[in-house]
Amino acid sequence: SRRHTPRALMAQLTVASPTNIAVIKYWGKRDTALNLPINSSVSLTINQADLRTVTTVTVSKDFEKDRLWLNGEEEDVSASKRVQKVFAMVRGRSRQWEGMKVHVVSVNNFPTAAGLASSAAGYAALAFALGKLYAVEESYPGELSTIARVGSGSACRSLAGGFVAWDMGSREDGADSCARQVAPAEHWPELQVLILVVSDKKKAVSSTAGMQTAVETSPLLAHRAAHVVPARMLAMEAAYLKKDFAAFAQLAMQDSNQFHATCLDTFPPIFYLNDVSRAVIQFVHAFNSACGETRMGYTFDAGPNAVLLVQQQHAVQALAAVLTHFPAEPGSEASYVNRPAMQQEAMALGPPAGLAAAFPLEPQVGVIKHVYHTDVGPGARLLEPSESLADAAGMPLRTK
Ligand code: DP6
Repeated sequence: SRRHTPRALMAQLTVASPTNIAVIKYWGKRDTALNLPINSSVSLTINQADLRTVTTVTVSKDFEKDRLWLNGEEEDVSASKRVQKVFAMVRGRSRQWEGMKVHVVSVNNFPTAAGLASSAAGYAALAFALGKLYAVEESYPGELSTIARVGSGSACRSLAGGFVAWDMGSREDGADSCARQVAPAEHWPELQVLILVVSDKKKAVSSTAGMQTAVETSPLLAHRAAHVVPARMLAMEAAYLKKDFAAFAQLAMQDSNQFHATCLDTFPPIFYLNDVSRAVIQFVHAFNSACGETRMGYTFDAGPNAVLLVQQQHAVQALAAVLTHFPAEPGSEASYVNRPAMQQEAMALGPPAGLAAAFPLEPQVGVIKHVYHTDVGPGARLLEPSESLADAAGMPLRTK
């Protein structure tokens, strides 16, 4: 007689994914459908205790179509090619839940499209959650990251923690364009970041559109991809492995500056940095010259927000300098920094001697909206069912 194993009719699980900040930038695609880059890139995985996307996926025989809620608003899955591609790649690698539909509920704890790489955390969470739900087994290391990559290029670097390279690969199908952990967060626990939120408005030109115009028009971008990034990737990985902060920070600053130079070289040009961003850049250089060594670095993505790189032993001093030259809007001091105790410590310490002389700009009050102090952390992970964002029918539990 035939034996039947009972078939599950529904399942649900919840994951969290961090965002990441590139110190060698991905900018430019050789294949827009698969998000295959023109150069390799490498990033720090930001501690998900501070910035993360949580995603709950529910599969059920009762669902009529795939549905997705992002920060409480339902999105039209049929209108998002990227989401559909992620679903198709997962389903193509699994024999589970055949014919059934999925509800996705996803929430970011930071502003979407503010240049804090929410798409990276979001697509990493989606690929990781669906990969777990469908029990996808990687047939080679990094295969799951290729699924996240098809959602958003930078997302492939958020599955792993620590310092993560995205090797550009050479295959046309993108199978070798995947993420690789260079070292876990524990390798360099002293490395920290200060994120200065300059504006939380939506950016004018999306990364996708901006890099496409850059590929079509910027000879500097082509030169960068072919002749600058390969050596820089090697130097950057070596600096991280040696924990050589001065080399690490300098490479990060130079690569950020070159990325923004390619934006100016794009025709018509694209401006992601604003006057506040440029003041922060001058401020970091002044801080380092006042200290007589490189104690701070910076990197900027496709927006005006600054990500400052520091080591733990100088983090309070760095914050003190930020608070002196970029004070909070009067009345919002209490919520200016995500770590009030550190903010107090910084106020007590004050900035390094000689900074005011090296940085002649007047203090700019209220131009920075918020400061996040955070560090490097682990990659995407499974959460407890108690942290679910959806009810048993896969509908959002909380709207926000
Ligand atoms: C400046 O990954 O958002 O943050 O692949 O089109 O989704 P798509 O672009 P996206 O671009 C990120 C660009 C960057 C640099 C980086 O993260 O490496």
